[in-house]
Amino acid sequence: MQAETGGGQMQAETGGGQMQAETVPSTAVRIVGAEARYGKHLALAKVDLDVYEGDFLCLLGPSGCGKTSLLNAIAGFVQLTSGYVEVKGEEIAGPARDRGMVFQEYALFPWLTVEKNIQYGPRLKGICGAQLKEISSRYCRLVGLEGSANKYPNQLSGGMRQRAAIARALANQPDILLMDEPFGALDAMTRQTLQEELLKIWEIERKTLIFVTHSITEAVFMADRIAIMSPHPGRVNHVISNTIKRPRSRTSEEHFAMCRMIEMMFQKGAIGQLSTSPEVKS
Ligand SMILES: Nc1ncnc2c1ncn2[C@@H]1O[C@H](COP(=O)(O)OP(=O)(O)O)[C@@H](O)[C@H]1O
Ligand SMILES: [Mg+2]
Repeated sequence: MQAETGGGQMQAETGGGQMQAETVPSTAVRIVGAEARYGKHLALAKVDLDVYEGDFLCLLGPSGCGKTSLLNAIAGFVQLTSGYVEVKGEEIAGPARDRGMVFQEYALFPWLTVEKNIQYGPRLKGICGAQLKEISSRYCRLVGLEGSANKYPNQLSGGMRQRAAIARALANQPDILLMDEPFGALDAMTRQTLQEELLKIWEIERKTLIFVTHSITEAVFMADRIAIMSPHPGRVNHVISNTIKRPRSRTSEEHFAMCRMIEMMFQKGAIGQLSTSPEVKS
């Protein structure tokens, strides 16, 4: 396990004591000095964070630490009071198709079938006919809803609705998928199934994925990197590289060890206390 400070380039020390830059993948999203206020309330204070192309990054922290504010700032839904967000080197000006969002509450149109929900974004782009049908069939298949294409959201279970929401977001072909506690409203068994399915989809689609959760085990099971956040005001304290090999097991020693280590970071309240560890810089 390695840790880096938000936004910084990782470096490795060579035998001769010289510092040599590691190869860092290209940056998909760069957050620089992000500050968000709601009236007098400081929800995010000076957040710096880089998300790499194809990265599965979890924003992990307790309720109220600014996870949704940060995700919404990346989506372009929240205007920062200071700082900025870049996507592929360009500062964002608002929401755009390159960033797709999946919310905790299934944001499907209740008056449209699964198929029509999935087709909604591509149809707005002017796609029609056989091509539109092809897109909805492909994404229905990808999320395992091929038998439910003609159902309405109220005819689906919670898990199926969230699969449909993922398919709808992917059908827009975003470069970056933003997910705000997407499995938070699901029962534990369905949640685990969808976690595994999302990983499979991510391996096929290779999108950059930014996933909000307050579950340590979810973050450790899913993410390449975990941005650890704390409240009052919302900050990213550390970014931990999760090097546990995939496919992962929730019952492996290394899974438990990483969960325990992160839990201790939260229990100590000030994550900087772990800075004595050679693996963690504060
Ligand atoms: N629209 C808003 N108006 C006022 N305060 C808000 C608003 N949205 C969020 N907040 C506050 O900002 C802080 C961070 O909220 P949020 O980003 O939703 O955190 P999280 O997703 O980690 O729970 C919280 O204290 C929350 O009460
Ligand atoms: Mg939230």
